[in-house]
Amino acid sequence: FSEISRVKNLERIHIGKYDVETWYFSPFPAEFANASVVYICEFCLYHFISERQLKRHLQKCTVLHPPGNEIYRQGDLSFFEIDGHKQKTYCRNLCLLSKLFLDHKTLYYDVDPFLFYIMCKRDNKGCHIIGYFSKEKESGEGYNLACILTLPQYQRQGYGRLLISFSYELSKKEGKIGSPEKPLSDLGLLSYRAYWTEIVVELLLEVREANEEITIEDISNRTSVSQSDILQTLQTLGAVKPYKGQQIILLSEGLLAAYERSKRKNKRRIDENCLQWTPPQ
Ligand code: COA
Ligand code: NA
Repeated sequence: FSEISRVKNLERIHIGKYDVETWYFSPFPAEFANASVVYICEFCLYHFISERQLKRHLQKCTVLHPPGNEIYRQGDLSFFEIDGHKQKTYCRNLCLLSKLFLDHKTLYYDVDPFLFYIMCKRDNKGCHIIGYFSKEKESGEGYNLACILTLPQYQRQGYGRLLISFSYELSKKEGKIGSPEKPLSDLGLLSYRAYWTEIVVELLLEVREANEEITIEDISNRTSVSQSDILQTLQTLGAVKPYKGQQIILLSEGLLAAYERSKRKNKRRIDENCLQWTPPQ
């Protein structure tokens, strides 16, 4: 069959205490063909066609967090690292769920080559999934992120930024430069642009404060963001100007004002000291 001609079938998901409208088609099994709601266990991500079935499952389901290792904990936020090869069912269920919010033409049923990083909020009931990103175990192209999702009920609260930031913290520990897999969705690009802008401007201000100079290559080495992502960000901001036969970075008043506004939102940050992780061999 042709994946592309398939239209969105499921209207909503019920997960944890949330009812969320879906965005795109996802190839749930045949028994969901006539269902409009999918009931999902927020801990193991098994899906059911009725609330009754989910309730019965919840009485038996004993897991209260994603499988895999908890590699980060700060406040009520945790990250779990999951190997697609070892936790196939969980990872396939995660892909099915996330496809509902991703407009990719192709789907990766083959979860083996990927690691999955699940971000959760912890409370006395368990670890509630907020979002995740996947990452190829070996990327020839230098990608440090394949897919990223913040579940809709948690979007626009700074969690996407935390996921992105976390992906670069892993790259820093690996001593590598990374970049997200292309093409990015519109929302993906908006979020990455916002992240790149913020960290580049932050670093440039630090450098200016210290009366030092910095090149794009230095910025890249310090942030693990690729040179071309930095350059494109600066160009989009109109911050690259010719000067005496060279290109220089110029931070406009408007850009600095936007940076200050965004900083005042006082967003949560990833604390590298809370990351307990060494790159997989
Ligand atoms: N409209 C405008 N700007 C947006 C935006 C939107 N809907 N969503 C994100 N941004 C920009 C903003 O600048 C935002 O900062 P602000 O809220 O301070 O203005 C910044 O991105 C970071 O937003 P944040 O709240 O951290 O992101 P998020 O938790 O909403 O997650 C995605 C962002 C991309 C992960 C989320 O939109 C998503 O899961 N989308 C569906 C899946 C997808 O397209 N993934 C990418 C392709 S693999
Ligand atoms: Na259906």
